[in-house]
Amino acid sequence: MKVTKAVIPAAGLGTRVLPATKAMPKEMLPIVDKPSIQYIVEEAVKSGITDILIITNRGKGIIEDHFDRSPDLERSLENSGKLDMLNDLRAVADLANIYTIRQKETKGLGHAISRAKSFAAGEPIAVLYGDDVIIGENPACKQLIDAYEKYGLGVVGVKEVKREEIHKYSSLKVENLENNIYKCTDMVEKPDEDHILSCFSILGRCVLPPEIFDILEDTQPGVGGEIQLTDAMRRLAQTTGMTAVDFEGVRYDMGNKLGILKATVEVALTHPEVKDGFREYLKEIAKTL
Ligand code: UTP
Repeated sequence: MKVTKAVIPAAGLGTRVLPATKAMPKEMLPIVDKPSIQYIVEEAVKSGITDILIITNRGKGIIEDHFDRSPDLERSLENSGKLDMLNDLRAVADLANIYTIRQKETKGLGHAISRAKSFAAGEPIAVLYGDDVIIGENPACKQLIDAYEKYGLGVVGVKEVKREEIHKYSSLKVENLENNIYKCTDMVEKPDEDHILSCFSILGRCVLPPEIFDILEDTQPGVGGEIQLTDAMRRLAQTTGMTAVDFEGVRYDMGNKLGILKATVEVALTHPEVKDGFREYLKEIAKTL
């Protein structure tokens, strides 16, 4: 079945980026001139997604506004002849059919995804974590969708992380199938030293078959008292198996301060409007370090 629906969970509290995220959703923090969630929506659209459900909560209404038309602003840009900017703004509103639903309590990523059941309506969904921006030629979401269509199993996007850091992530039992694609038969969230399965960890993207929703309904709170998506996917991995794609592209964790800074610097160095001036500035700064 073709994957045309995506879910972006964006209902987290963003405590690692406080106080910036006290009143501002972390998904709206900009990388140069676009909020990070726009990079994620653009990746989904480039991957063939037409319908996107964003899981939000109280105080995240400006995410919806960002993907809406803005008649007053558009009129003003039109009157002042700023037509390129006008077209860019309109394009944002036309990217995809964007839907939102609120996760009324912050009970974990698995609980957030379970809110998407009626949106999925029996179809597979691509999941793009709202605080993971991945930049690359070949959209990461597309690489996972290709694997889903080839193997017919749920897919997780993975990268190897440092062993001393794996306790902050998930850890997967994998076996190579071809090139950067693996079969995954088990996984564990935030493992302690004795439960590390490998240094492959799920980072930011997955494609889930419709069965995930029944499993989620049955999933009890796990690490941190939250309903963990990893615990539900573990059931899939252990029964049908899943595939794991070590995706191409650079992933920036927009949920922590260093990740935000890295994304800003690297995107700025490729941004047509500012790259030359920014490069000069960085060279000057580097001399003083
Ligand atoms: P994180 O683990 O980064 O949680 O969530 P968080 O609450 O946003 O961040 P901190 O730890 O407080 O700084 C991973 C993804 O899952 C979403 C988040 O929005 C993020 O995209 N999420 C998490 C939800 O949508 N709902 C939840 O209950 C938890």
